[in-house]
Amino acid sequence: MTSRENLPSAEEKEAAVTAMFDRIAPRYDLVNRLMTFRLDVKWRRKSIQSLSVANHSIILDIACGTGDFCRDLEKESFKPFGIDLSQGMLSSAKTSSPLINADALILPIRDASVEGITCGFALRNFTSLPPFFSELKRVLRPGGCVALLEVDEPTNRVIRFGHNFYFGKIVPLLGSILSDGKAYRYLPESVAYLPKFHELEEMLSTAGFHKVTKQKLSGGVAQILTATKPTI
Ligand SMILES: C[S@@+](CC[C@H](N)C(=O)[O-])C[C@H]1O[C@@H](n2cnc3c(N)ncnc32)[C@H](O)[C@@H]1O
Repeated sequence: MTSRENLPSAEEKEAAVTAMFDRIAPRYDLVNRLMTFRLDVKWRRKSIQSLSVANHSIILDIACGTGDFCRDLEKESFKPFGIDLSQGMLSSAKTSSPLINADALILPIRDASVEGITCGFALRNFTSLPPFFSELKRVLRPGGCVALLEVDEPTNRVIRFGHNFYFGKIVPLLGSILSDGKAYRYLPESVAYLPKFHELEEMLSTAGFHKVTKQKLSGGVAQILTATKPTI
């Protein structure tokens, strides 16, 4: 599950990932709900609850996909807007929030202009994480907060075995029946791109964030990382 041999090279990755999301966009929500038993909905809500920002704050949802986070943020009285590299995902989005077709690693946003940032299931799709974390810090206002939702590998061996079987075998099967088998083989394999154990927290601290925390979800199959930009 963590081998990189079937994954695109660093040079091919951005174009391959964008083309893949363009392809799977029309059925992305359906497959997501089915393959996570709707846990993805619960995890996004938990991510929003863990953002310590005031009501009506401007929140940037990076790699917004079909707009799930934007919709949930609107319901909580925030003012969200989304950014995604895949025009296909943006065209399939069901949200009234403003959406921009742009790269998370070069955000077309002014310095210190948003109070909060969410980002769901996207870290492993980026070509590099340090420039992404620098961009988060640049566009956040001092005191602003990020909540990054991502899959994770459970540390418990029994849960990990079951989870690897489900993600490695059942999810690609479900994906091939309902959408695109190749894409849903990439999704579990792409976990190999994720830094292990506490490396993500260390990278956020190195990027200059404070109060970096990791919350494990559903037996460790997903995680929420939160971090705050210092006020001075
Ligand atoms: C697994 S989907 C997650 C979508 C959504 N955040 C969610 O919670 O369901 C990953 C998203 O990341 C986007 N993405 C990948 N690389 C990107 C980049 N460099 N900049 C912006 N978006 C990117 C993809 O187009 C895709 O919509």
